[in-house]
This record gives sequence, structure tokens and C-alpha cells, in this order.
Amino acid sequence: MSKPRSAGTRAERARPIDHQAAHEIQAFGHLARLPIALGENAARLSVANLNQVLADTITLRDLYKKHHWQVAGPTFYQLHLLFDKHYEELSELVDTIAERIQSLGGISLAMAADVAETTIVPRPPKGREEVPVQISRLLHAHEIVLEEARTMARQAAEAGDDGTSDLLVSDVIRTNEKQVWFVSEHVVDVPLVKAR
Ligand SMILES: [Fe+2]
Repeated sequence: MSKPRSAGTRAERARPIDHQAAHEIQAFGHLARLPIALGENAARLSVANLNQVLADTITLRDLYKKHHWQVAGPTFYQLHLLFDKHYEELSELVDTIAERIQSLGGISLAMAADVAETTIVPRPPKGREEVPVQISRLLHAHEIVLEEARTMARQAAEAGDDGTSDLLVSDVIRTNEKQVWFVSEHVVDVPLVKAR
């Protein structure tokens, strides 16, 4: 017959085990093959491409939050709200891209330092800038994402990865194109009060 546990042992079992460490279960850049009837080369290409578009989308998303906080001038209120709306939409998009990478057996980039190393969107200064400059930065970042997403969508379709191609077209390209429209109308030079 086993000995009944002492009160001390029971208390010990309820204690959280913290400060644990172990080796990674999957290294970045390695593919965990999933039964999705997709060749390894196609999955590998899509994971690499999607991590690039992920890093650039995270950077664009954060650029919107920076501008949401730092915007100045007579259009403060509407741009403050619009920038945050686009931030939220891009947050959803970031999650969609990252989870596609995982569902291909890859590992999605996640942390700011890794994103900063990977993105090709130029780094803005820490300080505040005027609205037309903020908008120019956003439009440039959108164009970087759109250009790479169109190329990557074609590559994914050619490799037989229709799921990734569809995500790039339906989610990445369409979201970016619509946001470009909303933002770029703010730098059209039309009179506010008196027609020219
Ligand atoms: Fe806010």
C-alpha cells in the first residue's frame, strides 16, 4: 500500500514550475511537413515569400499607429481615426499571413527585432512629421507591399500553391489597394473653401 502524501508534498504539486528552458522544437527556416498535398519546394518558396510580406505588413501597420499618435494640423481628427482604422485592418491581415505560414509548416516572424532585420520598408525618424510626409511614407510602404505581393502571387500560382496565391490577391493586394485610395485622396491639392 502506498504511503499517503504529506500536506507539504501536495502544496509542492500546486506550485507553478517557472524558469523552464529547453531546445526549440523547430528551427526558423525549417519546414514541418504537413499533409496538405503540396510539394516541399512550393511550401518552402511560399513560406519565405510570406515572411517577407509579413515583415513589411507589420512595419506598415506600425507606421499607421505612429502616425495615428503623431498626426498634427486641421485634419487631425479624421486622419487620427483613419490611420487607426487601417492599423486595425492590417493587424487582421498580419494574423492571416502569419497563420498561413504556420499552416504551410513554416515559422512566421513575430518579434520586432526580427521584423526590423527583414523589412524593406524604410525606417522613419522617431520624431513627428507633417501630414503630407506621413502620407508619402505610407503610400511608399503600400507600394512596396503591393509590388512584392503581385510577384509572389504569380510565383505561388505557378508552383501550385493556390491557397497562398489567393491570400496574396484577395487579402494582401485588395486591402492595400483600398487603403492607398483612402490615404492618397488626402494629398490631392483641391481648394477647401473657394474654387480656383
Ligand atoms: Fe488610439
